[in-house]
Amino acid sequence: MANQIPEEVIEEIRKANDVVDVIGEYVQLKKQGKNYFGLCPFHGEKTPSFSVTQEKQIFHCFGCQKGGNVVTFLMEMENFSFYEALKHLADRAGVQLPEQEYRKESSLSGENQSILSAYEWLTKLYHHLLKFTKDGKAGYNYFKERGINEEAVDAFQLGFAPNVKDFTAEFLEKKGFHQQLLIKAGLLSLQDDHSVTDRFRGRVIFPIRNHLGKTIGFGGRAIMEQEPKYLNSSESELFQKGKLLYNFDLAKRHIRKQNEVILFEGYMDVISAYQAGFKNVIATMGTALTENQAKLLRRYVDTVILCYDSDNAGLEGTYKAAELLRKTGCQVKVTNMENGMDPDDFIKQFGAEAFDNQVIKASDTYMGFYMRYLKKDYHLNLEGDRIEYVENVLKQLAMIDSPIEREYYLKELSNEYSISLDTLKDELNNNRQEAGIHKDKREKNRYTNRGSSFTKQRKLLPAFHNAERQLISYMLQDVNITDKVQEEIGAAFNVDEHKIIATHLYAFYEAGHPADVSLFIEKLSDQRVKQLVAEIAMAPVLEDISDQVIHDYIRIIRAEMSDKVSVKSLKEAQKLAEQQNDPIKAAQIAMQIIEIRKQWEQSN
Ligand code: GTP
Ligand code: MN
Repeated sequence: MANQIPEEVIEEIRKANDVVDVIGEYVQLKKQGKNYFGLCPFHGEKTPSFSVTQEKQIFHCFGCQKGGNVVTFLMEMENFSFYEALKHLADRAGVQLPEQEYRKESSLSGENQSILSAYEWLTKLYHHLLKFTKDGKAGYNYFKERGINEEAVDAFQLGFAPNVKDFTAEFLEKKGFHQQLLIKAGLLSLQDDHSVTDRFRGRVIFPIRNHLGKTIGFGGRAIMEQEPKYLNSSESELFQKGKLLYNFDLAKRHIRKQNEVILFEGYMDVISAYQAGFKNVIATMGTALTENQAKLLRRYVDTVILCYDSDNAGLEGTYKAAELLRKTGCQVKVTNMENGMDPDDFIKQFGAEAFDNQVIKASDTYMGFYMRYLKKDYHLNLEGDRIEYVENVLKQLAMIDSPIEREYYLKELSNEYSISLDTLKDELNNNRQEAGIHKDKREKNRYTNRGSSFTKQRKLLPAFHNAERQLISYMLQDVNITDKVQEEIGAAFNVDEHKIIATHLYAFYEAGHPADVSLFIEKLSDQRVKQLVAEIAMAPVLEDISDQVIHDYIRIIRAEMSDKVSVKSLKEAQKLAEQQNDPIKAAQIAMQIIEIRKQWEQSN
């Protein structure tokens, strides 16, 4: 890895960014003993096998084996180059990274870097026009009329694209951007007559930022008679609506803190709610929630509050989103606003407090929503429909884990449809049996599974292999132990990767570094070795380890080595005996080999 950045600077940046905090920006981490656990962002999973240690400043996933330190995490997660990861961390911690000295390798293509730069210029320009110029007055007034205050205009960098054919084109071309690039960026449109015009004209602009806060697209809303009502940048490598969530970059801190996110359908709902004091708010971009987005949310929160428009489209969208989120493992709550309102309307009409108390805090559980949702298919004044409806609700209710919640809705059904509670319970239990759900199925603690699968995996390794791992994990945290091991066996480990690690570790300590796994990982270049070091370092070790234990590990490792050596020489002797036409001797030697192998198996 080419890094011309001084070691002290890298050190300073690494020290200023706690691995738990940085990873915590991507994954909801829960403390368990010494370590933190969460859902792995690198592979899909429902039970956490991704762990982070603050003490050692590293992470490791027991599921997919990915591991490393805070820098490697960002390189994996964001597809950053080493420089970009460092730059990101430096910015995050307010450390200066003297820029011009280094070759700025980027993970983005030159074209995408230019597109980002074009969006950055335009965001500023449109925002400036809206706020300070006569040309932008129409946009400014539009937001004023919709009750958006100055602070929100700034926070969301709202802007205005004037109704001029080539305003944007001219501005950006003067800055040196190529027309083809701007078409690709979704900022200019190619017309039928092959002329090129601005894509956004006479529209207020909602910059759409990615999770790193960079504008990668615009949503433009018509403010006069213009179709369509909303026009977005066209899809591109950087702007993929199915992967983005509006306002996610600003909201994620609050989402994690509150362990809850409010998901809206529209930009204006987000801005209204933000202005009313709700910060954990995001929206999809006029498209149905995707699996990609659901999984992203699952990593951050347990509970998603769906707050869609209360019209039919909103109801259908809610149902689909709720199903998807539940499948991903999220708890779902659903708001219920009356008579065709959307969240923005509600806040404007009734205020922030009413929105909190009557909408957010009063949101339904999934089951409550489902009962409401299902009603649309039935005429509940007809007896036949009523029965069918109740039967259908009971089927869904059978799938609910919480007995309290089941009981609650059974009572509600019993009261509403005058059916005895016992009858409903019988039917529910039948449904549960049919669905193969055991009566007393308790929700398993999601955090308890990890240990067992980990130990299982470890048990499969031969004794010498475990001894080597254990020994290395001590060496990683103790220079003295390492010295002792180096004296006794050098790099004579049996597993090739362990040899490599030991050799690097000896050199690392000889260079005067202290025991610091995260730094050690920094120095390794091979991805697989880095991951293995993180994995080994993650294993629990005793604080006070006796010389005897260390010695035992060394003994096991040596025994394996000498067995290997003796098998090798026995095999040679066997061959020789065969060549010398001495079958009895050859057979005797074969027996010796079998005996050694048998002992291996027993000791393993
Ligand atoms: P306002 O009318 O400005 O309050 O918008 P809204 O957020 O209430 O809009 P609506 O509920 O109609 O739509 C929700 C979201 O769907 C919007 O924020 C847009 O992202 C998207 N959307 C709405 N209309 C269109 C459209 O005509 N074209 C596209 N591409 N997206 C749209
Ligand atoms: Mn609206």
